[in-house]
Amino acid sequence: MQINSVCVSENNLFLPNLNLKLNGQLKLLFKGVSYVVMQGSKDRSLDFAWYLSNLLGIADMRFFTPVNLFNTNNFCAYRVGDVLCVSHGMGSSSILLLLSELTKLLYFSECFNVKYIRVGTSGGIGVAAGTVIVTNKVFAADLVDAYTVYENGEAVLYPTVMDQELNQGIFDQLPKSLEFKVQLANSISADDFYLSQARFDGALKPSYDYQLRSSYFDRIKKLGIANFEMEGLALSYFCGRVAIPATMVAVTLVDREDSDQIRVSKEVLESYSLRSRDVVCSYLLSKI
Ligand code: URA
Repeated sequence: MQINSVCVSENNLFLPNLNLKLNGQLKLLFKGVSYVVMQGSKDRSLDFAWYLSNLLGIADMRFFTPVNLFNTNNFCAYRVGDVLCVSHGMGSSSILLLLSELTKLLYFSECFNVKYIRVGTSGGIGVAAGTVIVTNKVFAADLVDAYTVYENGEAVLYPTVMDQELNQGIFDQLPKSLEFKVQLANSISADDFYLSQARFDGALKPSYDYQLRSSYFDRIKKLGIANFEMEGLALSYFCGRVAIPATMVAVTLVDREDSDQIRVSKEVLESYSLRSRDVVCSYLLSKI
């Protein structure tokens, strides 16, 4: 981990977005964390923590419930052994807030070799719904493979490649006899769910038609991109800058070449979401 050295100096110990003050007691709670598993919603993070606790046999979950270590309504964090299950909200701004303060917190807690994995959902492009995509590199919606950050008013571009060793580790530990496909591919991180993902069913009337959309999807597929989501750019750029190995494992809920809408039943949707969780848990179990 390579972090701005002044970020945890004597007069810089408050994390406003987590509502936590860095101190010895907090350090004890987080010291030893080696993996952070990130998901959009707080409920999903809690479910992941329950599931992992059960798998590891850490506690009889009939009698214990995971404790949220953050002090805000915006994000949550549950620790299961050396794994921290956190929520990041939706979109780049939300995940960047979380990444900045969580990384300060973990640096302060001496977790210098931590790895970050985002477990999410996405919209597939030319892949069957239910396919799990492990991201190689992230593109912006304009198909540039870089993240533009406005630093002091100036645009600076940063690379957006995920950690290849972590990706290989995930593929090496895939659960046996899978009933779904797990694929290494590039991803697009869009600003929103509708226009940025070339949908026709949002509140705003699109400036494109079906023909233009189809040529956009063709360009996307030529770049080896297989899914749309909304946090991968921020995650890949941030982790590249602080040298934290990171990747993203996101199941596709729809093939966007067939439909803009996610039409599968609630039960099927739930079973799809569990696929990325199972892929990541299989990797974590081999490591911890
Ligand atoms: N998440 C997205 O960002 N897009 C989809 O189509 C599905 C989930």
